[in-house]
Amino acid sequence: MERLPGFRDFYPEPLPHTDVWSADVRQFIFEQWRTVAKRYGFREYDGPPLEPLELFTTKSGEEIVGQLYNFKDKGDREIALRPEMTPTLARMVAAHERNYKKPIKWFAIPQLFRYERQQKGRLREHFQFNADLIGETDPAADAELIALLIDTLRVFGLTSEDFVIRLSSRNAWQDFFKHGGGDCAHEYEFFQIIDKLERNSPEESEKKLTALGFSLEKVNAFIESGTPTVELQSILTNLAARGLKDFVKIDYKVIRGLAYYTGVVFEAFDRKGEFRAIAGGGRYNNLVKLISGGKVDLPALGFGMGDVVLSELLKARGRLPKFDSPMDVFVLIEDETLRGISLKLVHDLRAAGFAVDYPLTPTKADKQFKRAQDLKVAHTARLDNDAYVRIRNLKTRDEVVAGVADAANHLG
Ligand code: HAM
Repeated sequence: MERLPGFRDFYPEPLPHTDVWSADVRQFIFEQWRTVAKRYGFREYDGPPLEPLELFTTKSGEEIVGQLYNFKDKGDREIALRPEMTPTLARMVAAHERNYKKPIKWFAIPQLFRYERQQKGRLREHFQFNADLIGETDPAADAELIALLIDTLRVFGLTSEDFVIRLSSRNAWQDFFKHGGGDCAHEYEFFQIIDKLERNSPEESEKKLTALGFSLEKVNAFIESGTPTVELQSILTNLAARGLKDFVKIDYKVIRGLAYYTGVVFEAFDRKGEFRAIAGGGRYNNLVKLISGGKVDLPALGFGMGDVVLSELLKARGRLPKFDSPMDVFVLIEDETLRGISLKLVHDLRAAGFAVDYPLTPTKADKQFKRAQDLKVAHTARLDNDAYVRIRNLKTRDEVVAGVADAANHLG
């Protein structure tokens, strides 16, 4: 049986095949994400992987809706596997926001599902670090969140030579659209054309823009001007004060595909342009209100960073550590009459916090020692009798004989 296309098997290192993913890398990435989020005062939340289909069809926009995994459950409900976390977060916040002081700063690491065309950096399942800040309109919140995004990449050893945050604003594009005589009803359509400028041919973009009364030349001139709006300038100044100036640039080519963004938007890219977006986010000041049917109105912003592109980038830049997780102790059982007391020793050492292994069944002494070496243990321990244990440091080859109850003190 083969696994489904676009899905991944995660194996412990060393990897058995180039076609599988590393469970150790995944764990390493999750740990770094959690560490940085906590430093910024973000709390972890989670929601269900299945949601009512409607949560996404009305709120996320065409592109994501076209990629939904959806079905009818046995109770005849329309269900979708979550393609993104933001609508779930908005639903959760709207339900219990009174219990939390504002601004709410939360993060999550959901597994998400999108029926995408498989390509480099895009699969049908990925894990996505989400960090969102709810209840603050000031651009200081945008700067704080972008600083978190930058530090989430810096923690892996990536520098401003490796990646850049392309900062933009839907407000700026909204003004451009209005001043150019655009019809409000076609605003999202216009945003979609801008979003695809880099992917579509100039002829195709020109044709679509002309239909809305705009020219590609004017759009390009606006992008090239790159003049920050007052709001974007305040974010740049805030980030510069932290010493993060080199990690951001104004780039109006970014507008984001999702329907709910309302203001500042941004995406993280590798500088060499070899990979798809590493992360993306922005302000969505109307989503909580929309999802709560007008009951709760809270401004919000956030970003999502997937594990797929990040893993590829860290690998390409040599930023992944070596993963072997050596055990602390291997308890040798060469005399089967001592198995009972050896099991007690194994159990006590594990309770004391050591990683301990031993032969499950009677095994020849040389095979046991080989196994200990394969596991890269620091020490072996072998009971001489029911009172004394012989502990050997495999690196220094020093050996001590200790009382069984005292064994843990010799494993430093
Ligand atoms: P998004 O741009 O759709 O935003 O996804 C964010 C990131 O998730 C992407 O930059 C990419 O790293 C990763 N990603 C997305 N789709 C795939 C895929 N098919 N395969 C691998 N990686 C993928 C959102 O999802 C927003 N909800 C983010 C957000 C949070 N905005 C506000 N708060």
